[in-house]
Amino acid sequence: MKQQQTVQIDIDSALSGTQLDELLRPAALCLREGGLVAFPTETVYGLGANALDADAVAQIFSAKGRPGDNPLIVHVADIDSIYPLTTDLSPLAEHLLNLLTPGPLTLILPRSAIVPDAVTAGLETVAVRIPSHPVARKLIKLAGVPVAAPSANRSGKPSPTRAWHVADDLNGRIDYLIDGGACEYGLESTVLDLTGEQPEILRPGAISAEMITSVLAEFRKSGKIVSPPLSKHDQPQENPIHTEDPFAAIPKSPGMKYRHYAPAADLVICDQSSPQARADAISQQIMGCLNQGQSTSDVRLGVYLSAETWALLPASLRTEAKDPTIPKILFHIYAEKAEPAAASHHLFDALRTLDQKSVDIILAEGLPEGGAATAYMNRLRKASGGGDVP
Ligand code: TXA
Ligand code: MG
Repeated sequence: MKQQQTVQIDIDSALSGTQLDELLRPAALCLREGGLVAFPTETVYGLGANALDADAVAQIFSAKGRPGDNPLIVHVADIDSIYPLTTDLSPLAEHLLNLLTPGPLTLILPRSAIVPDAVTAGLETVAVRIPSHPVARKLIKLAGVPVAAPSANRSGKPSPTRAWHVADDLNGRIDYLIDGGACEYGLESTVLDLTGEQPEILRPGAISAEMITSVLAEFRKSGKIVSPPLSKHDQPQENPIHTEDPFAAIPKSPGMKYRHYAPAADLVICDQSSPQARADAISQQIMGCLNQGQSTSDVRLGVYLSAETWALLPASLRTEAKDPTIPKILFHIYAEKAEPAAASHHLFDALRTLDQKSVDIILAEGLPEGGAATAYMNRLRKASGGGDVP
């Protein structure tokens, strides 16, 4: 991989539209001409290349160290830009795009011939997404081409949600890094496959199964079922979409077969249903470290939790331990309340930060499954290395 200078562009949210144009123009031109540009989206930072330029796309794989059989998402600014990429934009796909995007939803559609094999890893389908982040949207518009972009991390690291995460992984390997601050959601988009018998969630994200189910129900009510894949759902169903079991043996999404990022530390999930029960579980884990009969004075624990749960821990654990046999505990408190949006927003940043501090074990507060918590728990399980997960 050749070393090159990475130019960083800092975006202040107070900039006018014209100022933003001026700042982004060189990076957009670079994208158009085959370069690599990392940029913020509402989910995580993406590493973009011109999706119609196979050589540029190949550079994404080498900069990331990504296996070539893991396809990329193509980012566009509007629905019209999706038509050339697919042979069939069904009424259902249009309906989902109209109601749920711009935003953190990726659709898998039949690909058209203009999409290079390098993007789809040779599959007959293509992943498309319309991001809502104003910087991503402006960059794509200025580039004037669809932008293939995986998450802007080295393969095997957590997706980046801050510019410094990208710089840590890719400085010297890419042309531009656009710093737009922290990403709103902090977890990657929901991936919804529309090419099978029925819509199927391949990766949970901020657009939850419940949201998609309700949009599908509306669509069905409007009597617009014309596309063959949905014909068997003419009858109302409880839950018309399938959510992939993250531990399933045969991955539907190629990326799902790769072992995902797991921190150097062991990650233990404490996922009881109430804050008190989770605080008890965290205390028990900490005490468990004490009872292992080993010298614990140099064991470092990281704990990822909300302030409300932290406040329920025994006072002796919350204060800096005077007793040298008690492990050093680094609390990473993500928000006042234990809730999925804040827990998701800070998760990848916390994992990178705790890794940098060389903790041996990370205890993470889990949240009851359902809604936005499903994606959070999915990423926690991946980070804990549970099962055959991406
Ligand atoms: O939020 C996101 O989706 C971010 C931002 C940058 O947009 N992107 C992202 O890309 O997470 P990446 O490459 O890290 O993850 C894309 C996932 C992978 O699991 C990949 O296997 C799957 O989407 N994918 C891409 N194309 C596919 C296809 N044609 N069929 C099935 N899965 C596909
Ligand atoms: Mg990724």
